[in-house]
Amino acid sequence: MTATNQQHLFRCIQCDARLNPSNRFSCPRCGELLEITYDLNVIRSAFIASLKKPPPYSVWRYRKLLPITHTQPVSIGEGGTSLTKSNRLARKLGLSSLYFKNEGQNPTASFKDRGMTVVITRAIELSARTVICASTGNTSASMAAYAARAGLNALVLIPSGKIAKGKLVQAIIHGAKITKVPGNFDFALKEARKMAERRDDLYLVNSINPYRVEGQKTTSFELWEQLENRAPDAVFVPVGNAGNISAIWKGFRELKELNLISHTPKMIGVQAAGAAPLARAYANGKDRIDPWARPETWASAIRIGAPASWRKALKAVHESNGSILSATDEQIRRAQRLLADHEGIFGEPASAAAIAGLITARRTGLVHPHDVIVCVITGHGLKDQSVV
Ligand code: F0G
Repeated sequence: MTATNQQHLFRCIQCDARLNPSNRFSCPRCGELLEITYDLNVIRSAFIASLKKPPPYSVWRYRKLLPITHTQPVSIGEGGTSLTKSNRLARKLGLSSLYFKNEGQNPTASFKDRGMTVVITRAIELSARTVICASTGNTSASMAAYAARAGLNALVLIPSGKIAKGKLVQAIIHGAKITKVPGNFDFALKEARKMAERRDDLYLVNSINPYRVEGQKTTSFELWEQLENRAPDAVFVPVGNAGNISAIWKGFRELKELNLISHTPKMIGVQAAGAAPLARAYANGKDRIDPWARPETWASAIRIGAPASWRKALKAVHESNGSILSATDEQIRRAQRLLADHEGIFGEPASAAAIAGLITARRTGLVHPHDVIVCVITGHGLKDQSVV
């Protein structure tokens, strides 16, 4: 597979090495993850001009800031999710401007579709035949759907007995080949990485692949437009493998570099207390994580002990003056119920972690009554019916 698009480069997030895009996702010099970088001065006016188009919003509205120039997108209508202003929950928490970004409205009912449309399009650009991922459920559902749409083979590694049934059903109906691995998500991701490194015909689409991150950063562009061209003051994001919080921060960083916003939001990540290596590192003032060997939480989507993008996430939190919190399963359960019975939004357990984090942040004074706050509701509750 060879790279065909030279308008962007890979940049190592640690040693700043610049590389031509390829299907290797760690730096050959220092081993750290890579991100995609553009010459924003060159892109600026075309990006701004492209925003003159009236909504609907979508991932591909922001194509000028995506690493795909010519290839026809593999799309099922991703992005363009509602930003719903809270009514009752905001009042209960004493907040004037609380919003929910309802990512459950994506085609496979989670935020993963934003990244998947871009990375599967990239797979087509590279003439890949088979895509592979490790997943706690949503990534596999999304990959299976987009691979089906593109006519690619899909290979999924899942932790045995640890994924919500609704997500498994999605991967099955879209025709993915599913393998249960004897271990947790962290083990499954290691295996998937090894397989993709050994076999040139497998293209890995987990969020260590920087093309995934590019699609997911469009959440920030949409938020900015939906808030009438201003950034929120704080964004609450549930954290598992730490790709999404890194992606959303990248989006805001780019808006700031383009001089389109005057301030960036605090990025506030929320992990489940039983799977919280990032929250612990942050609380202890450490600049690296100690992976947890046996992560455990009811919020199976974020049952992850060794987040691959931990360094990106810590950077996001430090650079944005944010924080990483944790929420117990009991707090997550209560938050899920609150969101459902106060706002009519049914988020899956992992998504409710964002609300649980907000409740803590309100209590500890991390956010203020008149802050503009967004909670990212990452996936639809119907995927995981263990709640009843
Ligand atoms: N919320 C939901 C619903 C998720 O499915 C995930 C991750 C997250 C939050 C956390 O996002 O990993 O980027 O920090 N799910 C992955 C998966 C791990 O395999 O579906 P993250």
